[in-house]
Amino acid sequence: MEKRRVGFTETVLRDASQSLIATRLSYDKMEPILDKIDQAGYYSVECWGGATFDVCLRFLDEDPWERLRKLRAKLPNSKLQMLLRGQNILGYKHYPDDIVRRFVRAAVRNGMDIIRIFDALNDVENLRVAIEETVDAGGMASGAISYTISPVHTLETYVNMVKELEKMGVSSICIKDMAGILTPARAYDLVSAIKDAVDLPVVMHTHSTTGTAFMTYLKGVEAGLDVIDTAISPFSGGTSQPATETLCIVLKELGYEVDLDQPTLKEIAEYFKPIRAEYLEAGTLNPISMGTDPQCLTHQIPGGMLSNLLSQLKMLGASDKYEEALRETPRVRADLGYPPLVTPTSQLIGTQAVQNVLAGERYKNVGTEIRAYCRGEYGRTPAPIDPEIRAMILNGESPIEGRYAASLPDDAFQKAEAELGDRATCEEDVLSYIAFPQVADNFFEKRAERIEKRVSYSITRAD
Ligand code: CO
Repeated sequence: MEKRRVGFTETVLRDASQSLIATRLSYDKMEPILDKIDQAGYYSVECWGGATFDVCLRFLDEDPWERLRKLRAKLPNSKLQMLLRGQNILGYKHYPDDIVRRFVRAAVRNGMDIIRIFDALNDVENLRVAIEETVDAGGMASGAISYTISPVHTLETYVNMVKELEKMGVSSICIKDMAGILTPARAYDLVSAIKDAVDLPVVMHTHSTTGTAFMTYLKGVEAGLDVIDTAISPFSGGTSQPATETLCIVLKELGYEVDLDQPTLKEIAEYFKPIRAEYLEAGTLNPISMGTDPQCLTHQIPGGMLSNLLSQLKMLGASDKYEEALRETPRVRADLGYPPLVTPTSQLIGTQAVQNVLAGERYKNVGTEIRAYCRGEYGRTPAPIDPEIRAMILNGESPIEGRYAASLPDDAFQKAEAELGDRATCEEDVLSYIAFPQVADNFFEKRAERIEKRVSYSITRAD
């Protein structure tokens, strides 16, 4: 029998570092090991998108586009992969289609191969433009489902979604489990159902948070999974992905074809060990995030959301209301049509649960974001929002028709360009500014100072 191949996506340059060290891995720290990563035999290297873009500009004084071009040059044999939040690009608000298209096109132009595209509500209309443009620009679009558990998220729901994604032209389907709540049994059933429904490679992304990840991947592979997301061992485990080397050995032993070269993986691991130690020493890497927290397997509330809930209550001097807020959370989620608990919907639900408990009356206090959600600005909810609650929150205002992004002004790019003037040197600068206005502007200012210094230095030298 022919051996079945399982591909690996290495996450150390993006999700692993985002999950464990708040994305503080600078390009300089990556560069020395990139040639080894390039030779290791990965299916793809996740290296951009998610929080990397913001953190580059905000904390690392790096131009994210320049980082991408450098990665492209140093990883000539690898498929570069990024994470994109559909119509939200890299943030949490909706952008007009023109901006989404320009961003995707610029990402591909600067070297991106695979764009994994997801939406917090799994509304395929929030994925359509980004997928279309990726395919048009010659990239590979990976259509992701944000995995969640609720009475309305059945195998059928997911199968219908992946069929839609297939029609849109994606190159693969990704099951994205951001909270680590996908158990081995559920993974087996879900992968089997998707494999039956579409003729596309299926990728799985999970986190080791609850401790199920190794088993979940194994059962997923047994059901036909084609690619798994893993992190090189020093940056694996806990809130990150399970270890690349371990899964490589286990799957090879079970008779699967794995292209990874073990001695090269060992070199990569050796390189990252002292880096991990550095972040641990500096306090950037919190040992707690390396542990196992099975709590959310029982109530399905992601760990990050629990700590948010607790800190919100603490700030309001109402820590004693924690249990009550915990019970209120799934009720609010049901009222609002069972959105997956991922940023930003997890914050919306958590904050509203706290408000309901504190006020002693449900939906007495409602934030602007919940109101926007009820107007339909986030997209179509998995189940309808409770009509009575929706009417109460909207208070006479009517919900929007069709896609919210279509109602946005289409001159955002030109406006940003005009605002920036000569502070922007290329289209990429304008896109950075649109994604993170204040942060990008600060970065441009520092960059201009650096250039000025270099110029005056060369003048002095010339004298
Ligand atoms: Co992730």
